[in-house]
Amino acid sequence: MATEEHKYLAGIVKTTHATLREEARNYGPEIAWERHVSRKDVLQKYAISMERLATTYWRENNLKAENATLCRVEWIESQCEEYFLRSGIQKYDEMEENIKTKMDKDSTGTECSVNSNTENGGTSITFGPTHQGSIRKITLLDVGSCYNPFGALSMFEVTAIDLNGIPEKVARCDFLNVHVGAEKILSEDKQEIFQLPTSSFDVVVFSLFLEYLPCPKQRYACCRKAYDLLQPRGILLIVTPDSKHVNANAKLVKSWRYVLSTVGFMRIKYEKLRHVHCMIFRKNVLKQVAVRWASLQTLPEDDPLYQDSTAIYIPQDFRNVSIEIDREKEEYDTNEMTSMFSELPFDDT
Ligand SMILES: C[S@@+](CC[C@H](N)C(=O)[O-])C[C@H]1O[C@@H](n2cnc3c(N)ncnc32)[C@H](O)[C@@H]1O
Repeated sequence: MATEEHKYLAGIVKTTHATLREEARNYGPEIAWERHVSRKDVLQKYAISMERLATTYWRENNLKAENATLCRVEWIESQCEEYFLRSGIQKYDEMEENIKTKMDKDSTGTECSVNSNTENGGTSITFGPTHQGSIRKITLLDVGSCYNPFGALSMFEVTAIDLNGIPEKVARCDFLNVHVGAEKILSEDKQEIFQLPTSSFDVVVFSLFLEYLPCPKQRYACCRKAYDLLQPRGILLIVTPDSKHVNANAKLVKSWRYVLSTVGFMRIKYEKLRHVHCMIFRKNVLKQVAVRWASLQTLPEDDPLYQDSTAIYIPQDFRNVSIEIDREKEEYDTNEMTSMFSELPFDDT
């Protein structure tokens, strides 16, 4: 049973999303976004509500559930351990090399190894203790961090950014508009980031972030930027809410894989937890190995998901507008509480 506080917090989150989506429909995504980021009071209220929802209610719901699964933060932590501290990187280096060898054989009949033909730089990465005795931490950029859930984990060196997250924990930064350049550039008071360094992060996290953006092109632009910010072999972890069963939005999830493959990302993991889709995309050393997967797909004709290869869709993008407006204006009913994340887009079933 939802408490009054839970309903109140969920209402703030839901109204913020509904207003942004409605303004994007009425004025276009750019103007809607400008208006949205200028409402500092709304963003602040949203951040406080999100932190409380995530650290109290969602957590309790998950613990109470019979089939409790890893929460998204634990999932991301365990995947990074597997990839960076165990044999993940090497495994996918080898996979990349094998595919490249096959591609070369197919096209010219000759073989060529990854290390002899790297377009993004092919030096291997070693984590853990270095020769100097210091520990090389995994550099992680958490986009839409809100309250910095990764800050307490010692294996990461976290850069936590949000439009207006919890002060002291998170730097102010609009990822849609931040520059990517040679170095990190901060405001004088060091509270805001204007520029992030290119090819510098081991990990970029989009946890419950992409679906916040009202427009498919904005979501694509963020994935493109994540690609530029990652080092070769770095990984983009995407967690997106969906309480439906694994196949309900399978077509959509596949279209994300397709679009990200054209960018140069190879999907190396997909897992459906009870309320979220979890995906890992690796920035390949060899872009053409990632792009190959897309080129091998036979795309369904006239499928709107594939009409634009620079767009990342969520279910709301196709929903009848009048149904959506009715739905957004509905009272937040107690049944919805049984479905976690129902205050967020994508999961708005
Ligand atoms: C649903 S919350 C997710 C919070 C957290 N990542 C988690 O998993 O609990 C989405 C967050 O993304 C932030 N956000 C949305 N667009 C952003 C942008 N362009 N740049 C930075 N943060 C953004 C919002 O302010 C919000 O705090």
